[in-house]
Amino acid sequence: MSLLEVSHLQKIYTTRFGGNQVEALKNVSFSVEPGEYVAIMGESGSGKTTLLNILAALDKPTSGQVLLGGKPLSEIRERDMAAFRRTNLGFVFQDFNLLDTFSLQDNIFLPLVLAGQEFGEMERVLGPLAERLGIGDILSKYPYEVSGGQKQRCAVARALITNPQIVLADEPTGALDSRASDRLLDLFGEINADGQTILMVTHSVKAASHAQRVLFLRDGEVYHQLYRGESTQEEQFGRISDTLTVLARGGEANE
Ligand SMILES: Nc1ncnc2c1ncn2[C@@H]1O[C@H](COP(=O)(O)OP(=O)(O)OP(=O)(O)O)[C@@H](O)[C@H]1O
Ligand SMILES: [Mg+2]
Repeated sequence: MSLLEVSHLQKIYTTRFGGNQVEALKNVSFSVEPGEYVAIMGESGSGKTTLLNILAALDKPTSGQVLLGGKPLSEIRERDMAAFRRTNLGFVFQDFNLLDTFSLQDNIFLPLVLAGQEFGEMERVLGPLAERLGIGDILSKYPYEVSGGQKQRCAVARALITNPQIVLADEPTGALDSRASDRLLDLFGEINADGQTILMVTHSVKAASHAQRVLFLRDGEVYHQLYRGESTQEEQFGRISDTLTVLARGGEANE
């Protein structure tokens, strides 16, 4: 069974003034297998954030449905939603979304605190994770005292600490310099090699070339997908760039 099954998603936004309608998603279908690392690309306005918000159950589709682990998101009751998100989904955002008045450690613990876990147990889980992410020695610092790359690794720790079914990332390298991006991408690769399923929206060809598969959205539909297969990251980089060029010209991909 697929971990994530997205079928015929449509999302129409109705604007407040004049009742204008925008069809952000027309008909999006795809599935993600357990352990996959999938990137989603597409021009600005192609519906990437809309899609991610629906997958995160932060927004509802106009029609179509999303199954996570076989369970339709639409069947989760409103009062169970926060707990569902916390236990099943990990989030990484472009702007880190850390709380400035909390130390890095407390930021990472937040989902576990909300879930009512004991401090000793939280510490036990954090130790190895923080070491692996290279933030073991800065956990008592505050977000404003560390670099962007360190903040993002802290956000990744917060996403992983609940052992989620899937990590959803929206432009995770968008605010990082190239060295910090490379480090984060290496980390995502390692985490994925350990079995973590990742779905990442990105504008970066380099970031997308790390994934096993890239989905291209255009005009609210999945227009094309590229599997990395046995190709190297450099080869995949070239294929993604070519596809984006065709996309930008409004032509048809021929693979
Ligand atoms: N709340 C909203 N109300 C009305 N229209 C919206 C709303 N959110 C998004 N849209 C529209 O839906 C379309 C898709 O937007 P979306 O934010 O999903 O694009 P995106 O692919 O994430 O773009 P970007 O790469 O710039 O982040 C756009 O035309 C956008 O203007
Ligand atoms: Mg967006």
